[in-house]
Amino acid sequence: MQTKRVRDILRYGKPDETVTIQGWVRTKRELKEFAFMEVNDGSSLNSLQVVLDESVPNYQDVLKLLNTGASVEVSGTLVQSPGKGQNIELKAAKVQVYGTSDPETYPLQKKRHSFEFLRTIGHLRSRTNTLGAVIRVRNACATAIHKFFQERDFLWIHTPIITASDCEGAGELFTVTNFDLGKVPLDKQQKIDYTQDFFGKQAYLTVSGQLEAEVMAMAFQNVYTFGPTFRAENSNTSRHLAEFWMVEPEMAFCDIEGDQDLAEEFLKYIFKYVLEACPEDMEFFNKRIDKSVLETADNIINNEFERITYTKAIELLEKSNKKFEYAVEWGIDLQSEHERYLAEELFKKPLIVTNYPTGIKAFYMRLNDDNKTVAAMDVLAPKIGEIIGGSQREERLDILEKRINEMGIIPDDLWWYLDLRRYGTVPHAGFGLGFERVVQFMTGMTNIRDVIPFPRTPLSAEF
Ligand code: 4AD
Ligand code: MG
Repeated sequence: MQTKRVRDILRYGKPDETVTIQGWVRTKRELKEFAFMEVNDGSSLNSLQVVLDESVPNYQDVLKLLNTGASVEVSGTLVQSPGKGQNIELKAAKVQVYGTSDPETYPLQKKRHSFEFLRTIGHLRSRTNTLGAVIRVRNACATAIHKFFQERDFLWIHTPIITASDCEGAGELFTVTNFDLGKVPLDKQQKIDYTQDFFGKQAYLTVSGQLEAEVMAMAFQNVYTFGPTFRAENSNTSRHLAEFWMVEPEMAFCDIEGDQDLAEEFLKYIFKYVLEACPEDMEFFNKRIDKSVLETADNIINNEFERITYTKAIELLEKSNKKFEYAVEWGIDLQSEHERYLAEELFKKPLIVTNYPTGIKAFYMRLNDDNKTVAAMDVLAPKIGEIIGGSQREERLDILEKRINEMGIIPDDLWWYLDLRRYGTVPHAGFGLGFERVVQFMTGMTNIRDVIPFPRTPLSAEF
């Protein structure tokens, strides 16, 4: 007999069908003549109810082992369920216990646990309803992302995890070295001599695959990279991880308008796909985590995003009469409180802010004709703030060189990037979507640490 997934049994199972399932016991209830247990196999939010009685071989012995957390294989026949809440259940004929679980010490008790506590048992929390739903939605999001780009003729490219360049220029880098840290070689100026290190120069975990994606776009037109990125920012907020996944499309022959259009179409597509792929999980988030989850999804799918310039955003913030922790004036970087005011309170939907001041954005963004702003675009979402950051890239060699010099970046490190502007340069644009931020936005989960199975944050790299 082939094993079946609980999800499929709950959706398509018919009375009298014989099936085998494998999974973990969630609960057990013993009555006089028989017992019930709920078995979850990770395929769906809902568990399958199993009914057991004396007809199961070694019934009394097996029953003692069926504690919360134990792993089991159950074979039997599906029957119409008389109970409320489910229409099919499994009448067990045979039960095999693979691994027992001591109910006294199993950390996942039936009561509701706080997310803080669940983070301390990261190896078991995926067996809970919430984390289970998160991981399935995450999977659907990733599938939607690949589908979206593949349907539009974008090539999936793989950019390096170890690089020697700081794409964002923010210095939030983890160094990759194989020096014996007890005796690091120094040069004549008593500085660390990276020429003796593994790569012959200082190398880092990448903060973004963009620069290499640009290389590939100059050969294949439309490409995207989707991989892990790393930032050594000491931020303990509910929106920052030290290791997160980023999706970065890059398009040749594209300007800032096309970039915004793609970003909007992309977010709509992901939401739509996930609603169809994970209806039960999304219902669950709407019921248990944030009552506005489904309304938000609907809002995203069916409404056009607002589009305003940075200058206009500053005007609106100044007019708001709100007390912000960080004072508002033209030239400041928008803080999360500003972003949230605009998206959550003022427009009540995602908005795209364009043309930020040159001084607060990275070296690669295209200088606008006003010489004061660059062709940047950030998508800001209610509750999350910045979810996408992108720009049209500076394709003109002379202006790019000037900006690099102004920002004190050593052009030698970027010789290959500058070469792209020497040989067949074209207008091009792209963006980066924080994968965890979109999962957070979609599920209504308040902390980003609860939308990735193994969060990496300052002082925390357990599991
Ligand atoms: O705005 P960022 O820094 O943009 C870039 O890295 C560009 N190179 C992207 C590009 O144009 N190809 O980061 C992009 C997105 C942010 O909008 C945010 O959603 C997410 O990455 N992000 C983080 N997510 C979780 N934890 C962090 N520490 C993050 N930092 C950025
Ligand atoms: Mg950004």
